[in-house]
Amino acid sequence: MAWGMQNRLNRIIQKDGKALFMPIDHGYFQGPTRMLEKPGETVKPLIPYADALMMTRGVLRNCIDPVVEKPIILRVSGGNSVVGEDLSNEEQLTSISEIIRLNVTAVSMSIYVGSKYEHHTLKSFSELVNQCEDYGIPTMAVTAVGREMQKRTARYLGLCSRIAAELGARVVKTYYCEKDFAKVVDGCPVPIVIAGGPKVDTALEVFEFVYDGLQCGAIGVNLGRNIWQHEYPVAVMRAIRGVIHDGLIPKEAQTLFEEVKAVKA
Ligand code: 5RP
Repeated sequence: MAWGMQNRLNRIIQKDGKALFMPIDHGYFQGPTRMLEKPGETVKPLIPYADALMMTRGVLRNCIDPVVEKPIILRVSGGNSVVGEDLSNEEQLTSISEIIRLNVTAVSMSIYVGSKYEHHTLKSFSELVNQCEDYGIPTMAVTAVGREMQKRTARYLGLCSRIAAELGARVVKTYYCEKDFAKVVDGCPVPIVIAGGPKVDTALEVFEFVYDGLQCGAIGVNLGRNIWQHEYPVAVMRAIRGVIHDGLIPKEAQTLFEEVKAVKA
């Protein structure tokens, strides 16, 4: 692998082969998402515990101090909205010159396999890969399901993840599914990080699915709402970090969560 590509991948995936990405990009189609009304303030206490931050250029420019040391994964796609006709009508919107100008470490965009705009998003993603490979910039494909959360079966996620890797993604972000998630990972020749999806009821449930995902071979997470929509985001983040980088089991993560929570309360 070329030096630049390897160096950038090493910046976002840590020496232990694991990764904790913190996404705050939801506004690009959801507007001021709950607890992300002021993304810079929301993410500030979480930055020390993240391996990389994921956001759009608008949030990066306006809400993040350029002294930030953490690598940035830039969301470069959009063109859709929650009130629009079809969420899958998305494409690359940020140019390669802007990607370079912002000095980001990696980029991400969504693909919508099986949707009305499947071809459009897969073509746009492939074009992004072509541009980024020229400069050694890794691409992370986001296997999006839009509003159809029931699509999250191993068969579907495995299909999307494999297609993303075949088109040139260096990392794939997909959802965790309880049944056969190992098959999703096994069928994908590049590292997989798992997304959280809408907030679940308890922090323990998050620690459990993160732990289970890692046991199946995922290298980590790109997990937003289940952290920053929680009442104690730093405690959740530190416990998840413990699962990913320190080998904590869910019960131990829960103990760490309670300890950090008690100090912060
Ligand atoms: C949506 C995204 C998010 O980065 C991704 O879904 C992870 O966030 P969450 O854990 O909240 O689902 O791609 O724009």
